[in-house]
Amino acid sequence: MRFFASLALILSVAGLSACSVPVSVPEAAPMISPILTTDDAKDPFTFAQPEVARVTHVALNLALDFEAQSVAGSATLDIQAAEGAETVILDSNGLEISAITNEAGAPLRFTIGETVEGKGAPISVMMGGSRSITVIYSATNPEALQWLAPEQTAGGKHPYLLSQGQPTLNRTWIPTQDSPGIRQTWEARITAPEPLTVVMSGLTAAEPEAAGEGKRAFTFKMDKPVAPYLIAIAAGDIVFKELGPRSGVWTEPVMLEKAAAELADTEKMIDAAEKLYGTYRWGRYDMIVLPPAFPYGGMENPVMTFLTPTFIAGDKSLTGLVAHELAHSWSGNLVTNANWADSWLNEGTTSYFENRIIEELYGKKRASQEAALSFTGMEEALAENGMDAPITALHLAEAEAIPDGGATGIIYDKGSVFLRTVETIVGREKFDVWLESWFDRHAFEPATSAMFLADIRENLVKGDAEMEAKLMLDEWVYQPGLPSNAVRPDPAAFAEVDAAAAAYAGTSKVDPAAWAKWTAAERMRLMAKLPRDLSDAQLAALDKDLGLSKTGNNEVLFLWLELALENRYDPAVPAADKFLSNVGRRKFVAPLFEALMEQGTWGQPIAKRIYDKTRPTYHAITQGTVDKLVR
Ligand code: BES
Ligand code: ZN
Repeated sequence: MRFFASLALILSVAGLSACSVPVSVPEAAPMISPILTTDDAKDPFTFAQPEVARVTHVALNLALDFEAQSVAGSATLDIQAAEGAETVILDSNGLEISAITNEAGAPLRFTIGETVEGKGAPISVMMGGSRSITVIYSATNPEALQWLAPEQTAGGKHPYLLSQGQPTLNRTWIPTQDSPGIRQTWEARITAPEPLTVVMSGLTAAEPEAAGEGKRAFTFKMDKPVAPYLIAIAAGDIVFKELGPRSGVWTEPVMLEKAAAELADTEKMIDAAEKLYGTYRWGRYDMIVLPPAFPYGGMENPVMTFLTPTFIAGDKSLTGLVAHELAHSWSGNLVTNANWADSWLNEGTTSYFENRIIEELYGKKRASQEAALSFTGMEEALAENGMDAPITALHLAEAEAIPDGGATGIIYDKGSVFLRTVETIVGREKFDVWLESWFDRHAFEPATSAMFLADIRENLVKGDAEMEAKLMLDEWVYQPGLPSNAVRPDPAAFAEVDAAAAAYAGTSKVDPAAWAKWTAAERMRLMAKLPRDLSDAQLAALDKDLGLSKTGNNEVLFLWLELALENRYDPAVPAADKFLSNVGRRKFVAPLFEALMEQGTWGQPIAKRIYDKTRPTYHAITQGTVDKLVR
């Protein structure tokens, strides 16, 4: 199992004996994370053969070229290999490689294999006895990177760059072994044109320095081994504001005050998370609030969470997103799914943890409402796929395995219901002690569903046959559908709003005074519970009474636009057009195009007209999904 942990020991001992007496105190030996070798830990989306040769460290030296939309430079990789291994296999996708050299700068032979859809192409490097290789390369328009025109930024004056690595996109700009089970430390030196500032998902190693003709170089270091999908970069006209002793926010100058106000509780969230599940191990927790083209709500890039600006509602009502990305600092970044068939280990555990943070900060009412919304998300996914569909199991069987981990209603929502069920059965106190110890035992390591269940049995169930029977662990993880012991949401969570939705069926009215008092979650619940078929007059009245098309809450706005488009409501088209022209978040964009496409001769021409215009402004991830809907 721990092949490389012991190999590391042997290598370091061998290294020492070959060395003369050290003259200075050496740096602490880099942490080398084990590779899991069981079948369930294998990653079908990598070409790497880590049991033969694996990357342990990546040193990037890259220049950003906004005109060419390319990065160019080098990646020096430290390799740990089995005795006698002469070849190392890297992942790549669309990279232009000009040379690969050894420590001495001598060229090494390499071949690039055939490209496989969604996976890229293997680079086999004949490294001989070399254990450090340098890939000299460039990547033009790599899928991970999105180059924004100045018009797509809040300031409107400067271009912007952002990346999204998860699940398998980092191989489009970094030649490494791009698999979540092959953890790597990394460092980077990035040059960018002035006045742009570069941030990455590692700690800043030095002040920016002049790098010739209007350029500056930024340096970063991640000295903890991380899954390579967590290497991330952004560059733009951005500034920083401190939020707490170890937290702060980067964003464009005109966004700074709004972003900082929305994120004002971040330090408290870190404190709450630590109180729940142990020390925050990454040093700083900074965030960057990106332009709205970012394809996700958030991404848990270590020490630098990436956030959509669409979570800014002015009242902190959508900061569950921040709690979520913060929680990934334990579930996902510390203990990481070994492959994407166990995405639920990252996302389900994080969704559960997110809700616990929300409860600590804002109380049981908000937490139980958000948990109830998530429960509905699960029910919808189960209904949509069918209770016996293999995709509704938490652990995905090989045939179902897809890099993005499957349906969010399953891996996020069913995953969190699973943990809430375990919590309820064993008791919160015991459960919390166990979950903290799980993160601790596997810190900086990959994990599988089988390991998770074995650990629960060993350290929580401890042979208690009655508890074991109550938990139904294997059914939860390996079977489709919903086990009979699932803990249901608090029926009181939405009592008032559900009554209002039921009354609407008769009265066609929602009381604006009630709406005004409701939480964001209650408003979202109402939108979901309204009848699906509404007349123009009903929609007009709803919009007028509740101010839906003017709401500053993008989750509510999205639900309104979706409902309106599903009912071919012409007055909503300009607002939908505006929203889709501004926001690239896939969770919003894809369902709106889908709603239009479902409306035949009314909606399809609208979808095509809008998409022709907006497609170039979306990240490849959003383009990929919408292409399938609209083209
Ligand atoms: N890690 C995910 C985003 C992700 C998942 C990217 C799978 C690629 C493949 C991130 O933490 C996330 O879950 N984002 C959600 C946040 C929400 C659940 C609070 C999002 O973007 O909507
Ligand atoms: Zn997540």
